[in-house]
Amino acid sequence: MVHVAVVGAGHWGPNLINNFQSSGRSSVSYVVDRDSDRLAAVAQRFPGVVTSRNFDDAANDAAVDAVVIATPTRTHFDLAKRALEAGKHVLVEKPLTDSLESSEALCELAQRVERILMVGHVFVYNPAARQVKHYITTGELGRIYYISMVRTNLGPIRVDVDAAWDLAAHDISVASYWLDATPSSVSAIGGAWVNPGVADAVFATLRYPGDVLVNLHASWLNPRKARDITVVGDKKMLTFDDVNLAEPLRIYDKQVMDQRSQPVYTDSFASFRMSVRDGDITVPRVPMMSEPLRNECEHFLDCVIQGTPPLSGGKEGLAVVRALDAISQSLREGGREIRLES
Ligand SMILES: NC(=O)c1ccc[n+]([C@@H]2O[C@H](COP(=O)([O-])OP(=O)(O)OC[C@H]3O[C@@H](n4cnc5c(N)ncnc54)[C@H](O)[C@@H]3O)[C@@H](O)[C@H]2O)c1
Repeated sequence: MVHVAVVGAGHWGPNLINNFQSSGRSSVSYVVDRDSDRLAAVAQRFPGVVTSRNFDDAANDAAVDAVVIATPTRTHFDLAKRALEAGKHVLVEKPLTDSLESSEALCELAQRVERILMVGHVFVYNPAARQVKHYITTGELGRIYYISMVRTNLGPIRVDVDAAWDLAAHDISVASYWLDATPSSVSAIGGAWVNPGVADAVFATLRYPGDVLVNLHASWLNPRKARDITVVGDKKMLTFDDVNLAEPLRIYDKQVMDQRSQPVYTDSFASFRMSVRDGDITVPRVPMMSEPLRNECEHFLDCVIQGTPPLSGGKEGLAVVRALDAISQSLREGGREIRLES
C-alpha cells in the first residue's frame, strides 16, 4: 500500500482523494488544507481520513510515502520542495510551478533525492488522446501540418496565474505528447479585463519541429465550455471534442491531392475541386476503460511502486512551463515570437 497525503481540498483535491482512497493499492493518510471548512467537508465525505491544517504533520510522518498537491499554482513550488526534502514522492497538479526557475529547481531536487516527481497533466491519460497519439505515430493522418486547440469556459477565474498557465498547460502537454517534441518558438497575444495583469484570454501560436503549427485559444471568459481540437494531416484530418464523451473523435478522410500531377493552372472551380479528396467521416470507438484521472493516479502508483519514470514527469512538466514562460514573455512584448532552445 502506498500511503498518500493530499494537500488542497478545494475544487479538484476531492477527486484525487477519491481516486487514491478507492485504488486498492493506496490509501489517503492525511488531507491537508489551510481552510477548516474544506477539511470539515472532507471529513464528512471521507470518514476516517485524518485532516490537518498543518502541512508538516504529513511531511514529517514517516508512514507517508507520497504527497499529492492540489493547491493554487503559486504554492506548488514551496509544498513540492518541502515534500521532496522530506523524502516523499510527489504528484503535483498542473502546471508544475508558476515560474521557469522554480520548475528547474524542483526537477533538480527530485533527481538529487531520487524521488518520483510527476505533474498532473491529466490529458495525456485520456484514452481518446492516447488514440490520437496512435493515429499520429502510425502515420494514419500522414504528415501533421497544424493542430488547433480551443479550451474555453466561463470561470473559474484565477488570480495567481493567467488563462494560459491555467488552461493552455493542458493543451501544450498533450500537443508535445502527440508530436513527441517541444515547441521551438512561441508567440502570443491576450487580454486582461477582469483582473489587471492577469490575462483572461490568450491566443498563442507554437511552432514545433517539422514545420508543425499549434494554435491555442485559452479563456475563462467565454460563454461556451469548449474543448475542441483539430489535427490536420496531409492524408487525413481529425477532430477531438473532449466534451462529447460518447463520440469524442471524428476522422475525416479528406485530403488535398498532390498538385504536381495536376495542371499548373486550375482554370475553373470544377478542376480546383479535383485536387481535393472529400472522403468519409468516421467515428472510431474509444474504449473508455477508466477515467483519465483514475489512469493518472494509477500511473503515479505504478511509478512509485516500480521506480519507473512517469509519462508526465518533472522533465515534461518543465517543458510545459518553459513554453508557458515564453507565452508570458511574448504577451509582455506585444506578441513577439520567442525562440526556445530545444
Ligand atoms: N487537472 C485538472 O483538470 C485540474 C482541474 C482543476 C484544477 N486543477 C489544478 O489543481 C490545483 C487546485 O485547483 P482548484 O481548482 O482545486 O483550486 P481551489 O482554489 O478550489 O482549491 C485550492 C485549495 O487549496 C487550499 N490551499 C491554498 N494554499 C494552501 C496551502 N499553502 N496549504 C494547504 N492548503 C492550501 C485552499 O484552502 C483550497 O481549499 C491548481 O493547480 C489547478 O491548476 C487541475
